[in-house]
Amino acid sequence: MTTVTAEHITAASRASFADAPEPRMREIADALVRHLHAFVSEVEPTREEWIGGIEFLTRVGHMCQGARQEFILLSDVLGVSMLVDTLNASTDAAATESTVLGPSYVDNPPQAQQGDDIARAGDGIPMLVDVKVTDTAGKPISGAVVDIWEGGPDGLYDVQRDLAPGEYDLRARFTADEEGRVRCWAAVPVSYPVPVDGPVGELLSATGRHPWRPAHVHFRIVADGYVPLVTHIFASGDQYLTSDAVFGVKPSLVVELERHEAGVERDEPWQRMTYDFALTAA
Ligand code: BEZ
Ligand code: FE
Repeated sequence: MTTVTAEHITAASRASFADAPEPRMREIADALVRHLHAFVSEVEPTREEWIGGIEFLTRVGHMCQGARQEFILLSDVLGVSMLVDTLNASTDAAATESTVLGPSYVDNPPQAQQGDDIARAGDGIPMLVDVKVTDTAGKPISGAVVDIWEGGPDGLYDVQRDLAPGEYDLRARFTADEEGRVRCWAAVPVSYPVPVDGPVGELLSATGRHPWRPAHVHFRIVADGYVPLVTHIFASGDQYLTSDAVFGVKPSLVVELERHEAGVERDEPWQRMTYDFALTAA
């Protein structure tokens, strides 16, 4: 027996995975051990700090229930979700850039028709969402399925409020028309904080970070023969565009909302968000 050093432990732990039958699993386990051991060797945690870390991750797990996925939120605020998104992004420069899905996505949202208003009374300033879906050469993709969702003026998504089962707010699925267009009424988005009532909130406050995301509308676009696109469109001028709590902002996704007076379309002042989405062929 020789003296056990940090190097021995790392080497022994790596060697224990060396015969994993599946090569990708072996690669991942080896990299996990290497990086985790390097992290611990650098930080040199006390036993109390190590237990504190275990307890933190345990609280993150306990917080995961239904729509609340604290592990994804942890991945988001550590920049890991955006790193995965970026590493998997389309290499086609003409394609619209993607960003995080976020925890408020609902599979199979209610189907709406062109021109519908998906906002409830009291949802703030009306906004016309006027978007087009094309391929990367600009050819319209008729029939593309476009899911749109956003938070309300209180900073909460419908899934975070106590709506009756089957009731939605600021969320719907549209089908792009023959010109690849979708138009609907929604609300001017506002900036809002990610949930801070759990361990991720503790992490943010212990490290002096704010929890805010800049105002945005979410889009998920799916069409036969194309890579699904998950993205947001951000409103220009938001104070959090340069410090998004989840690092989701890309300059190509920021647009200026067009302001309109009361009169022609609406009885109150309204704004318009326009964007052309380009999908990569599958
Ligand atoms: C959101 O955009 O809704 C969101 C994304 C990541 C974490 C929390 C919220
Ligand atoms: Fe969001």
